[in-house]
This record gives sequence, C-alpha cells and structure tokens, in this order.
Amino acid sequence: MAVIWYPGHMHRARKQIKEVMHQVDLVIEVMDARIPFSSENPVVTELRGPRPCIKVLNKSDLADPLITAQWLRYFSKQEGVRALALTSTHKGDARKLLSLCREMVPLRVQRGEPVRTMIMGIPNVGKSTLINALAGKAIARVGDEPAVTKHQQRISLGNGIVLSDTPGILWPRMADENSGYRLAVTGAIKNSAISFEDVALYAAEFLLQHYPEMLMTRYKLEELPDSDAALLELVGRKRGCLRAGGVMDLHRASEILLKDFRSGKLGEISLERPADSGNDVAQGAAD
Ligand code: GTP
Repeated sequence: MAVIWYPGHMHRARKQIKEVMHQVDLVIEVMDARIPFSSENPVVTELRGPRPCIKVLNKSDLADPLITAQWLRYFSKQEGVRALALTSTHKGDARKLLSLCREMVPLRVQRGEPVRTMIMGIPNVGKSTLINALAGKAIARVGDEPAVTKHQQRISLGNGIVLSDTPGILWPRMADENSGYRLAVTGAIKNSAISFEDVALYAAEFLLQHYPEMLMTRYKLEELPDSDAALLELVGRKRGCLRAGGVMDLHRASEILLKDFRSGKLGEISLERPADSGNDVAQGAAD
C-alpha cells in the first residue's frame, strides 16, 4: 500500500482512535530517533487528552547518541510524558518499556487491573517490531516498506500490560519541505513519493555539513567534495556506478548513499536536533 495520506484517511484514522481512547490508560507513541520532530505527530496530544504518554525514540541504534539524549530531555519536560530510547530489534531492549508502563499508571496496578495501552506512530518507525519484541513472539507483521501494520489483535504483553487492537497508525508530519525530505531519507515515506535522487542529494548536503568524517571514512575520501552533487558523483565513482560511455549512474549512487545511511553503515546519525525545530524547542534542549 502506498503511503499517501489524504484528508479522508486522516479523518478516519483519527475517528477510529478517538472511539477506543476511553478504553486506553496509557499511550505509547513510537518515533524514529533520527527524526523525532518529523516522526512525531502532534495529534497524539489532542487524542490522548489527560492520559499519560511514553514517547519511544526507536531505532536509537542508528541515531547520534548525544542528540538522542537531548531529545529525551526535551520530551521529558512535556506534561504527562516520559521518553525512552529503544532499539526494538535488539533482543530484550524493548522490555524496558513494560516496567515504565506500570510505573506510569500506578492506580490500575495497585487495583490488580491490567494497564491498557495503545501503540501509535507514523508508518515504518518500528511499531510492529516493538509489539513483537514486547510480546516475545511474532504477532505483528514487520516490513521494510511503510504501512505493513494494518490490523493488530488484542494482545496481552504479560506483566499486566494489554495492547489495544486498534492500529494506531498516524500520518507523517509534513511540517515543511525539509520534513518531507528527512522522512524520505529514513525511508518513512515511500521512495516514489519524492524523486529518489533529490532525496539522496538532500542527504548528501546534510552529511557534508554535519557528519563529514563519517563520509571520509566510509568512502575512503582524501578530501571532502564541495557540493552534494560532487559527493554523489564521487560515491558513484568509488563504487563503480559508471554506465557504458563513462556516464555516471546517479540513481545507483543515490541508492548506495541512502542504503548506507539507513542501515547504519555510515554511522550513528541524527537528522534533527531539538534546537532545529523552533525557539521553544531550542530553549528546552539548552537547559
Ligand atoms: P508500518 O507497518 O508501516 O506502520 O511500520 P511499523 O511502524 O510497524 O514498522 P516495522 O516494525 O515494520 O519496522 C520497519 C523497519 O524498521 C523494519 O525493517 C524493521 O526491522 C526496522 N526496525 C524496527 N525497529 C528497529 C530498530 O530499533 N533498529 C533498527 N535498526 N531497525 C529497526
């Protein structure tokens, strides 16, 4: 399924979630630790009302740990919110979440009642992987392409935690053009939604500016190219992406750069810092 959200889809998703929210004690919003701003959806605040929320910065194995620590501080300052960095694909890591769930809804725990949770998040942030890791078995489908989570079952996670059976899939936050590019760089929106080469050029420019040493190491560069296009050209040359007649295959070079980023082969990289996303955010991260 192509991940293109129309107002109708958003309305339906919001309505579905609203209908069952009264049966939920705690919301778990899953985000991508590399792009917390663009993978967060402000509609969660509206939908959860007074319920507590755990913001999970998932895929933290791929993100810059210093920047993830800044994001954790930033989110933890929000009313009723606790934040946790996780790598759902690492065995056992996700279970850190279960004790936090119990801590955040003590009344139900004291009464011996299950804590009813709903996992929410935009496509491809790792909701299914997290659900499977929490349940200790494969119950939700996992995929490289966005929007695999369609219908979840009602799931008891053990330890008195129950998961809602309504899929909490939210639409990506396209706050601006940059958000769109960053979502595409991480793979949260489908490759076809924006020109693939443009996405790679966006990544190249960002990496040249923020993580030049990682580029030098990964591609064994002697000096740094002076533009995004020159970097792609160089990556292509180093990786044998020349077509007949010596013409550079920019599509293949783009693929290599994006794959290296998405798989973590370039290193631990964050595309967004709290300080980038507005004055109040910058202040929050500074103290
Ligand atoms: P939708 O079904 O599209 O809503 O996606 P989802 O949010 O359920 O994501 P899913 O669990 O299918 O994971 C998407 C991709 O991210 C898969 O290739 C997972 O293996 C990968 N993934 C999930 N969690 C992590 C993580 O913590 N680290 C890394 N490196 N990859 C992860």
